[in-house]
Amino acid sequence: MKKILITSALPYANGSIHFGHIAGAYLPGDCYARFQRLKKNDVLYICGSDEYGIAITLSAELANRTPKEHVDIFHKKNLELFKKMDFSFDHYSRTTWEGHTKIVQEFFLDLCDNGYIEERTENHLYSEEEKKFLADRYVVGICPKCGFDKARGDECPKCGASYEAVDLKNPKSKLTNHPLVLKPSKHWYLRFDKFKERLKKWIETKKWKQNVLNYAFEYIKDLKPRAITRDLYWGVPLPIESAKDKVFYVWFDAPIGYISATKEWAEKNNKKEAWKDYWFDKETKLVQFIGKDNIPFHTVFFPAMLMGQNKPYILPDQIPANEFLLLEGRQFSKSDNWYIDLEDFFSKYSVDQIRFYLAANAPENSDSEFSWKDFQVKCNAQLLAKLGNFINRSLVFTKNYLNSKTGELKNLKEEDKKFLFEIDSLVQKIEEAYENFHVRKASQIIMQLADLGNCYFDKKKPWELKKDKKRFEEMSLTITLCLECCKSLALITYPIIPYASKEIWKMLGYKNKILNEGWEKIKNTHIPSNQKILDPKILFRKIEDKEIEEEVKNLYGNFEKIKKKIEIADFEKLDLRVGEIIEVENIKKSKNLIKLKVDLGFEKRTIVANIAKYYGKNLIGKKVIVLINLKPIKIMGIESQGMVLAGDKEGKVEIPFINTLPLGSNIR
Ligand code: 2FM
Ligand code: ZN
Repeated sequence: MKKILITSALPYANGSIHFGHIAGAYLPGDCYARFQRLKKNDVLYICGSDEYGIAITLSAELANRTPKEHVDIFHKKNLELFKKMDFSFDHYSRTTWEGHTKIVQEFFLDLCDNGYIEERTENHLYSEEEKKFLADRYVVGICPKCGFDKARGDECPKCGASYEAVDLKNPKSKLTNHPLVLKPSKHWYLRFDKFKERLKKWIETKKWKQNVLNYAFEYIKDLKPRAITRDLYWGVPLPIESAKDKVFYVWFDAPIGYISATKEWAEKNNKKEAWKDYWFDKETKLVQFIGKDNIPFHTVFFPAMLMGQNKPYILPDQIPANEFLLLEGRQFSKSDNWYIDLEDFFSKYSVDQIRFYLAANAPENSDSEFSWKDFQVKCNAQLLAKLGNFINRSLVFTKNYLNSKTGELKNLKEEDKKFLFEIDSLVQKIEEAYENFHVRKASQIIMQLADLGNCYFDKKKPWELKKDKKRFEEMSLTITLCLECCKSLALITYPIIPYASKEIWKMLGYKNKILNEGWEKIKNTHIPSNQKILDPKILFRKIEDKEIEEEVKNLYGNFEKIKKKIEIADFEKLDLRVGEIIEVENIKKSKNLIKLKVDLGFEKRTIVANIAKYYGKNLIGKKVIVLINLKPIKIMGIESQGMVLAGDKEGKVEIPFINTLPLGSNIR
């Protein structure tokens, strides 16, 4: 029995998880954990929420919540989704539980003891107004290379230069636009450079995927000391007196979350020390599932942190990193309305449908795609028409012509033996696929086995055999061999579509749980004769064209409604004021346009507006919102010196009126 510690990247509790994340790091991890449990290995599958860091404080501030309130919301949401997806974590923790703080601090102290930590005092950008140091993401300024005036704190979107925030000219706070000053601040650096040789030797022994190896080697070429502390109020505090206002950088504490989560699991299960059986035992195989953006942290930084400890931590054995899953060609993005609403999704489709689809499209070697049409095709043409159909016809025949009982596997002819042999070799093949994290391949093998069953059924024509009493034995053997194939399907589908697998298993008349029986036993034992089967149930429903058309319409419809995101500074360019309409004049030859005179308090403007049809002369004396810094344009020979704001929907126009604000007031 092997001891296998499996982890999936700890998702930030900073937004809802989407199928893009699921396909890369979570579903493959869960399939692997389920497979290894079936193999009767000692599996511990760990995950949890990553709850600290600047990104979280920033979103929480924008949402008017405390960071704690913010992470509570998303921890709960993500956990619910994982449950809906039937993920089998042995424990799902959070980095804000107190046990985490303790281990992170211990990690740091060990690294200090061993000479891997260095203190440095350097100038950092400080906001006098907000009374705090600002991290990269909160800073904008002029690019030191090309002079672009909206360069970000860490890189220039125009010329691509990468630099330190202190190199920016005229640095300003992104949120308030106020200038920043340089002020010395002390930070703690981890000397990653000291691990270079050890890391190199270690990585050279690893049989990782090529993309993972490439990234890892590239990263260790230029390993520099990196600051592991931040001037922030939301994070694990440093265990030293002189660093009261600092916390650890989130990428320092997050991977330690795998360990603290294991510790929490042990405590919750009343075996306090059991976490050490995994983390301190050289025989444990640590397998870490991640998305490709997390590769350097898992192949280089976290291993270095582990190497610098006094306790005998194990290092990762495998780091299966996947690429990204896109939604109809674009990255999933909730803020751009380019996403799938998961609550809505689960009210219409089943968890097995989505698990199967994501496995079949897993972004293993390159980015892959979720497309609604393809989802329908895979669910209907594969799950339903191949797998569901084969299970159903085998069970229906057993019920109708074998009195709901399995027959005996005797007097096998060549073609029957061949069928059994081919079942075995596909089971063998899928075992290899699961062992090597290839869920996409595994989903294909499942369909091959269903195809094999259907072909055998068609070829043997039991519907004809049943007509001839003398051929009862042959019919019984055919159907029983089909049930044997169903048994293998129950086995091999368990990691990917556990619900269907368990249903098939139950319908075949097994009383014991599939997981208790285990891979080897099920593989090596034929279905017993005279076993009573249950009445067949439909496993997968058909997805209609209409439903998919609706989904596509929703997706594109929502997306088109929202324009490209702008910076707050873009909005601030608009000078919007309160003005009173003091004159209204029709424009000859135009039904829709109207000439207005608007009093802004400090000056009067002439504006041509497209609202004649709706308001006519009833506008005199009304206060409206006017865009006053729009460049003048000539309309019907009249110079229009601004724009009156109005809303419209499906041919209806309405002007928002202002009641009490004085003329000239700013609108923002
Ligand atoms: O990219 C992410 O979502 C990170 N929260 C992953 C962290 S993995 C681990 F180190 F905790
Ligand atoms: Zn630049």
